[in-house]
Amino acid sequence: MAGTDREDVPSILRGCRFETERLLVQELEPTFARWDVGASSGERSLGLASGVVATMLTEEVTRPLPPHWQGPYSPERAKQWIADLVGDPMTTLLFAVAKEGGSAPDETTRGDAEDLSTASASMVGLVIAFELPEEDSASRRCLRLGYLLSQNFWGQGLASELVKGFVSWCRQRNAEEPQGAIASIVGGVARTNLASKRVLVKNGFRAVCGESQEAHSPEDQEEEEFCLQLLS
Ligand SMILES: CC(C)(COP(=O)(O)OP(=O)(O)OC[C@H]1O[C@@H](n2cnc3c(N)ncnc32)[C@H](O)[C@@H]1OP(=O)(O)O)[C@@H](O)C(=O)NCCC(=O)NCCS
Repeated sequence: MAGTDREDVPSILRGCRFETERLLVQELEPTFARWDVGASSGERSLGLASGVVATMLTEEVTRPLPPHWQGPYSPERAKQWIADLVGDPMTTLLFAVAKEGGSAPDETTRGDAEDLSTASASMVGLVIAFELPEEDSASRRCLRLGYLLSQNFWGQGLASELVKGFVSWCRQRNAEEPQGAIASIVGGVARTNLASKRVLVKNGFRAVCGESQEAHSPEDQEEEEFCLQLLS
């Protein structure tokens, strides 16, 4: 998506950061700066992020995702995956870290392996948001929302908490601008992905009539769209 005139339009989600009861959610640099004591370098953060993402994007976790995102991931593949998302001016990648645990270890004793293990242990999930211009409005956007959790954290209500926090941040962002900024959030979910549907419905998303028939899995699974309208 890079290379279009969208590069001139700043992302509405730039600098997105929010906290929930159990999670701290923000972009790559501030997330990984936590484990980057001393040698502050973007390249080291990306290297650490690649290792962490490679452990998260297992075959099981990526099964409901589009075919070209299916795992497994080596750190090199994860690095390219991150670079593609971060390099797209209208895509935002957020990292959800458990607030408890995973603090930066003692600077004198730590090494790359310790950092990777500490960061992986506290990395709960990812949010991927794509911004599209809203019809009839140059300034408002529609967001397409994706998310995933590391399998260690499934079934604890954390995906619901993550989406709730993201929606709250979007509402707050709208309150900062008289015309509003984010018109709607849409989540596309494979029909068989009952947990993900439940997460969206619990957060106020409603199934869109005339559902998308787009195929997104090797089994030609149908996708259902759920929408949360934030502005009328
Ligand atoms: C989808 C995903 C994010 C859900 O994570 P999670 O930790 O299970 O989510 P939560 O615990 O917050 O909530 C899941 C809800 O679905 C329900 N649920 C889980 N499995 C279910 C099933 N097979 N059938 C019906 N409901 C189910 C849970 O009971 C819970 O609802 P409740 O709070 O009312 O009890 C996680 O499984 C994941 O990362 N999957 C792989 C990637 C993915 O599918 N991403 C979404 C793409 S659209």
